[in-house]
Amino acid sequence: MSVGALSQEAPFAARAQPRAGAPSAEGAVVSVRLGPLALPNRYFLAPLAGVSDWPFRLLCREMGAAIAHTEMISSHGLVHGGDQTLSYLERPASERPFAIQVFGHDPDVLAAGARVAVENYGPIDAVDINMGCPVKKVCGHGAGAAMLKDPRLVERTVRTVVEAIAPVPVTVKLRAGWDEESKNAPLIARACEQGGAVAVGLHPRTRAQMYRGRADWDLIRRTKEAVRISVWGSGDLFTAEAARRMLAETGADAARIARGACGYPWIFRELVALERGEAPPEVSLSEWRATILRHVRMAIEDKQGKHRLARADGAARPRAYRPDGGHEHRDMDAREAELAAIRELRKHLLWYTRGRRGGLAFRRIAPELHTEDDVKRALDRFFPEDGSVPPEVRDEPTPTRDLPADD
Ligand SMILES: Cc1cc2nc3c(=O)[nH]c(=O)nc-3n(C[C@H](O)[C@H](O)[C@H](O)COP(=O)(O)O)c2cc1C
Repeated sequence: MSVGALSQEAPFAARAQPRAGAPSAEGAVVSVRLGPLALPNRYFLAPLAGVSDWPFRLLCREMGAAIAHTEMISSHGLVHGGDQTLSYLERPASERPFAIQVFGHDPDVLAAGARVAVENYGPIDAVDINMGCPVKKVCGHGAGAAMLKDPRLVERTVRTVVEAIAPVPVTVKLRAGWDEESKNAPLIARACEQGGAVAVGLHPRTRAQMYRGRADWDLIRRTKEAVRISVWGSGDLFTAEAARRMLAETGADAARIARGACGYPWIFRELVALERGEAPPEVSLSEWRATILRHVRMAIEDKQGKHRLARADGAARPRAYRPDGGHEHRDMDAREAELAAIRELRKHLLWYTRGRRGGLAFRRIAPELHTEDDVKRALDRFFPEDGSVPPEVRDEPTPTRDLPADD
């Protein structure tokens, strides 16, 4: 699950345009149960490796996402206390409910890792087990989507984790199956239910498909029919209309928005407004600019260690800084923190600006952005506050329609 794959393949909607469609006449926002929790609506931010860190989760929650899981966290890393691993658990104390996702291939290690997180780094309100990750490095060890090959292992894994962290609710994220010949999501969902999961999330593409082709929403419907626990649908939810259509067509209990939220956290505000029967507020230029700059500020604060966790076992164990996500638990000086933050945030900046007039010019100079001031200056240059169109971007096409929701 590389962020690169996201940049290349995601058919981002034309973000400068109002695109939420007509409000429904429904009025009441449907809430969802997650074990003991009552979530205020059925729109969730999906786990996104390299993307769903606390600043992005916070923005999505503020826009209305009912819950936002961390990216997948290695259960082995949790047991062994790696600093990189622990950095994924960082968040403001106000992030409640706080939900994490873990991965691994061994039921006992998965259970032990989840328990370390819950006991040492809580409060943690819900734990999701990843059985959907398609990448070789994860499946090669029998974790992620590789678990779908063995329904008995799935059931045992879920039961072991449930018993280890009860009463914290456990959910499982699935793919359609390993490949076209073994699309067994309904069977696997039943195994999860037997093991004690309170919900399954389904991204209805096979592991073999990775992110290609269309998500098979009908498999969400069939999985929903196969179990009594909640089913959260995912896959090609690039616009609010698509997410609402998926819910209507499949009977799923919730929609997990993934690539559709990248560069567009406002999708959650649209979803909630539509469900209330209201016209979603448009995103003004000043709100858009302010959100980007706030994201930049929070990313820098993150790198400065604003929400660093006190380790359960004392000293930090330094690891090399990874430019594609995470950071070691040592103090970076202010300059290093800023550079690291902007380097990691560049992908978000490209997503925010995609589909807007000025976006092409912004993309060209993006490699030269290194500081918060650089980002401010680039916004002023290509997307000035007064809404004028600078001469250098006048020839860029103005997006006129949403892109289709397929790859
Ligand atoms: C860059 C990227 C990272 C992802 N990371 C995770 C992850 O850590 N855990 C997980 O369960 N799914 C992960 N996913 C899958 C998404 O949660 C989602 O199920 C999938 O993208 C389908 O939804 P979409 O077509 O609306 O994007 C990732 C997807 C992408 C594109």
